[in-house]
Amino acid sequence: MALVTLRQALDEARRGGYAVGAFNVSDVVQAEAVLDAAAETASPTILAALAGVTAHASDERFWAGLHRLIDGYPELPVVLHLDHGPHPAVCLRAMDHGFTSVMIDGSLRADGTPSSFAENLAVTAEVAAEAHRRGVSVEGELGTIGGSKTDGSRAAIVLADPEQAGEFVAATGVDALAVAIGTSHGAYKFDTPPDSTVLHMTLIEKIAARVPDTHLVMHGSSSLPAELREQNNRHGARLPESWGVPDSEKVRSIAMGVRKINQGMDSHLAFTGAVREALGADPLNVDPAPYLRAGRAAMQRMVAARMRIFGQAGHAGDYRARSLTEMAVRYSGGNA
Ligand code: 13P
Repeated sequence: MALVTLRQALDEARRGGYAVGAFNVSDVVQAEAVLDAAAETASPTILAALAGVTAHASDERFWAGLHRLIDGYPELPVVLHLDHGPHPAVCLRAMDHGFTSVMIDGSLRADGTPSSFAENLAVTAEVAAEAHRRGVSVEGELGTIGGSKTDGSRAAIVLADPEQAGEFVAATGVDALAVAIGTSHGAYKFDTPPDSTVLHMTLIEKIAARVPDTHLVMHGSSSLPAELREQNNRHGARLPESWGVPDSEKVRSIAMGVRKINQGMDSHLAFTGAVREALGADPLNVDPAPYLRAGRAAMQRMVAARMRIFGQAGHAGDYRARSLTEMAVRYSGGNA
């Protein structure tokens, strides 16, 4: 089984009434944590990688490592997903390296300002046409999710306009749609627990009603648990207080039609907190293995808990996923 497309995974999730977490990974140790969490909970899963954000020497080496790792979990349906592809060329590169799903983020211009609806639609349609020709799924973004970007700057939130959803999907044919409902990326989200003036949950229902065949995606879904921040701070970090999206709101979003829930920061907080604690506990240690093992185990615990909350746990065996060849995905071999 192993690799499946996002379309397959989210169609299954709709049938089962659950969502699938898309967990950001930036090296194979983190990817192992996600896949072990999926094996532990018998979950279909989405490994989400951002181009240019890896501990490995190049994306291509990292991506080849991901393929080798995924091969070790033949019982699991796994989507290999490019998160926030900033340009068509980056999406093409990921497709050439065997990604079964790409996100084209047409919400921002190269200078970081929000794109016009027409600009977003045009670039998304271009990527979707090529991706579908290859059997790869595509996610687009409506509105601007906001928050931290890979270059360290922050994008402003522009809420998704439900009136534009139908036209966007009809013109682009995206399989999944990230909807800006007030969430934001990163470890610093809200100064107070978010209420309905911050998280515009009703937008989900409005958009879902207009694009029933397209799967909605909630980005910026990390909860930023206080205990993880405190663990990091006890061991040398100086993370300011910040609130994320409560698990209860994620569960509510699934009932409203969200099928993919993106999480990166909570995994990083769990991993880094455990690494800091392990390093602090043994000041004489210089071997990375024990502290990386502690980080991986903490991330696996966090991700497994989220898989149970999202409802994907127990669903790995529900469908006979097709192989890459059957999906006609072209894979260049992941050369470094
Ligand atoms: P967080 O920043 O809340 O972890 O969200 C990650 C995300 O949405 C990646 O696309």
